[in-house]
Amino acid sequence: MTEGETKDVYISPFIQQITGEVNLPQKVYIFDTTLRDGEQTPGVALTIEEKIQIALALDELGVDVIEAGMPVVSSGERESVRRIKQLGLNAEIAGLARTRSSDLDALQECELDVAHVFIATSDLHLQYKLHMTQQQVIEEIVNSITYAQELGFKGIEYSAEDATRTDLDFLVKAYTTAVSAGADRINIPDTVGTIIPRAYGALTKTLTEAIRAINKDVRISLHCHNDFGLAVANSLAGIEVGANQVHVTVNGIGERAGNASLEEIVMSLYALYGVPTNIKLKQLYKTSKLVEKLTQVPISPCQPFMGDNTFRHESGIHAHAALAHPRTYEPITPELIGKRKDSEIAVKGVVIGKHSGAHSIQEKLKTFGIETTREQTTEILERIKEIGDKGKRVTDFHLRTIAESVTGKIAEPVLDLKELTVVTGLHITPSATVKLRIKQNSSFIEKVASDIGVGPVDAACNALQAAFKDIVKDFGDIQLEKFSMDAIEADTDAFATVHVRVSDEQGFVTDASASKEDIVVASIEALVNGFNRLLYMRRES
Ligand code: KIV
Ligand code: ZN
Repeated sequence: MTEGETKDVYISPFIQQITGEVNLPQKVYIFDTTLRDGEQTPGVALTIEEKIQIALALDELGVDVIEAGMPVVSSGERESVRRIKQLGLNAEIAGLARTRSSDLDALQECELDVAHVFIATSDLHLQYKLHMTQQQVIEEIVNSITYAQELGFKGIEYSAEDATRTDLDFLVKAYTTAVSAGADRINIPDTVGTIIPRAYGALTKTLTEAIRAINKDVRISLHCHNDFGLAVANSLAGIEVGANQVHVTVNGIGERAGNASLEEIVMSLYALYGVPTNIKLKQLYKTSKLVEKLTQVPISPCQPFMGDNTFRHESGIHAHAALAHPRTYEPITPELIGKRKDSEIAVKGVVIGKHSGAHSIQEKLKTFGIETTREQTTEILERIKEIGDKGKRVTDFHLRTIAESVTGKIAEPVLDLKELTVVTGLHITPSATVKLRIKQNSSFIEKVASDIGVGPVDAACNALQAAFKDIVKDFGDIQLEKFSMDAIEADTDAFATVHVRVSDEQGFVTDASASKEDIVVASIEALVNGFNRLLYMRRES
């Protein structure tokens, strides 16, 4: 293996050159605030049951602290924080409190492990929000931390809200006061994400020196918002000077542009810095998808590691090289973060478009059961590029149709939709009947199945699943993971294009699509295409 390369990762060897210049901690504690700062994402509101699901997933992931909420906010919030604490998780459970005794009492009622106490320190917040003097803020810090100690929390963390826009002398005074009063963790919020990595690193270093002069065991924590897209970079700069805890949210959700993303911080610590955390990397993708589902904040296709595109390649140059050695264009293996086989470049990750090369086209066509000569591939590629140059997305339907017309062969599917009947209307339950044909060796088996659904597409999908299960008995369940439809265009193709993602029990996942004037037919054809591709994938594996 080359310098910078391990079994799962291949990073820049130049990183080695700066290791002497940084003061990395032995280990970084992961303080997850998905349920508190993350829930402050505009439009996100989680039920108690959903919060419990997330807390269980975070604990399984291995986070050290779960900030479950701010109990004083409402009785519902208090109830969810209490229930999370009662789960008896390995992670410490923290709650957020202002410097008021009633806030701390609410934390104690929930029997929390960690009191996270905050009060703002910047002139801006003192003048326009708190209407307090610096001296009054200092008194609030002393009184609240002393009271928290009396209540007997296992940990007391103090945050100077808007720390990065606070006068430095006053900031040092606020933190040293908190530590002298009994805080054993201090957190440095870049509340509106307005600092740069070098400055945040310098600030963290100054504060760490001042605080550890009083108590060398104080945990130094970072809390960065992403308004300038620097939350992760700023947090890492704080870790480079010795901070040993970082506040994060799953998928980086949170107020405005969000918080530092758990996945990006943890992967950077693991792969780029070599600093240990307690996170089980293989659980990352699963946790991210759960939070996406429950918060309904979609993961962008380009989101580092978690996005759909992060292990996919359209450009022919990239696809060809990644087929030869995935590390050429993928810094880590998808398995490392628990992504499944859909992420593998080997056939499944190749996306066809105007940047594709001959190799990708041939690999993709094989999944439709079509073999092409070099000349045929070149012709198909030219026609694909024409579609792409017109600004259109190239679908499986385009590729297959072009390949069939160029080769003169009809791609023979293993599975074929022979008939589809749908009955729908007002005041009746939509129902559908599907006739499927499957080729087994040289003979064909046909199966008819009917089912109902909440709508015609649902009914047809259910009938298709039933027929498939009946015909391919040992295949197991197929999950429909995604279903979307492109708007019907008024111009050349008055088609609806349906895109589906299906997965099987062996972990194979594939995207497929179909275009038709009739959206029900397009939906079922897309599914049949997906089922066919799963059958091809299994056959090839
Ligand atoms: O962003 C912030 O300042 C906060 C504090 C409560 C830590 O979320
Ligand atoms: Zn915050």
